[in-house]
Amino acid sequence: MIISAAIPKGGTGKSTMLRSLASVALHRGYSVTLIDGDRRQNMNRWFQMLGEAGNRPDRLQMVSAMTPQEILDAAAIHNGERSVVLIDTEGTTNDNLMAGLFAADIVVVPVYFALDDVTAAIQITDHYIPLAVESRGRPLPAIFVLTKQTIIDGRARALTELRAIIQANGTPIAEHVLHNRVAYRDLQTGQTLYSPAVPDAKAIAESEGVFDDLLQTFIEATRNAA
Ligand SMILES: Nc1ncnc2c1ncn2[C@@H]1O[C@H](COP(=O)(O)OP(=O)(O)OP(=O)(O)O)[C@@H](O)[C@H]1O
Ligand SMILES: [Mg+2]
Repeated sequence: MIISAAIPKGGTGKSTMLRSLASVALHRGYSVTLIDGDRRQNMNRWFQMLGEAGNRPDRLQMVSAMTPQEILDAAAIHNGERSVVLIDTEGTTNDNLMAGLFAADIVVVPVYFALDDVTAAIQITDHYIPLAVESRGRPLPAIFVLTKQTIIDGRARALTELRAIIQANGTPIAEHVLHNRVAYRDLQTGQTLYSPAVPDAKAIAESEGVFDDLLQTFIEATRNAA
C-alpha cells in the first residue's frame, strides 16, 4: 500500500505523522519504505539517526527522491504484499507533491486546526486530488488526520466550524487524533514510537488508531470502486 502525506502548508506534522505510521507498520510486521521527496531531506535524516542510535528496524528502507519521476519509480518498485510505502513531500505546492498524489493508494492530510491549515487542506481534497484522479484514471481516497491537538484545541468552538468546512466535500476525518505529545517531538531524534526505554502508550495507541482508520478508509474506498 502506498500512502502519501500531502498538504501545501509547512509544519502541520506530515513528517512526524509518517514517522509514527512507519513505527506502527513496522511493529505490525510490514516492510516499510520511506520516500523522501522533500529537498530538505528530513525523513532521510531520521533514517540516518535511527541507524546511529541502533534503533533502525531491519524492514525499514529509505529512498531519497529528488524528482517526480524518482518518486513514481520508487513507489512502484517498493510497493507489494505486506509492504507499506510512505511518501513525504514539502509543505508547498510543487511537482513532487503531485507525484505523491499520482502514486498513492490513499492520501493522508494532516491538519492542525488553524484557518491557514484548513484552507491548505481543502486545496488538496478539492483541487489537487481531483486533478490527480483525472490524470491517472482511478479513484484516490483521502482522509484528514488532526495533529498536534491540545486540550485547548479540543474545547475551542472554532474546531466545530473548521471541522464542518473541511468535511464539506465528504472527505472523512480520522476518528483518532494525534495529540500534542513529547513522544512525537522525539521522533526528530533516533527514536521510533516503540524504541524508547519507556514508550508513550497513549501515543502508540492513537497512532495505531490512525493507522487503522486509514486502512478502513482505504478498504471501504476499494470496495465502493469495485
Ligand atoms: N503530534 C505532535 N505533537 C507534538 N509535536 C509535534 C506533533 N506533530 C508535529 N510536531 C512538531 O511540529 C513540528 C513540525 O512537524 P513536522 O516536521 O512533522 O511538520 P511537516 O508538516 O512535515 O513540516 P514541513 O512541511 O516543514 O515538512 C516539529 O517540530 C514536530 O516535532
Ligand atoms: Mg516535513
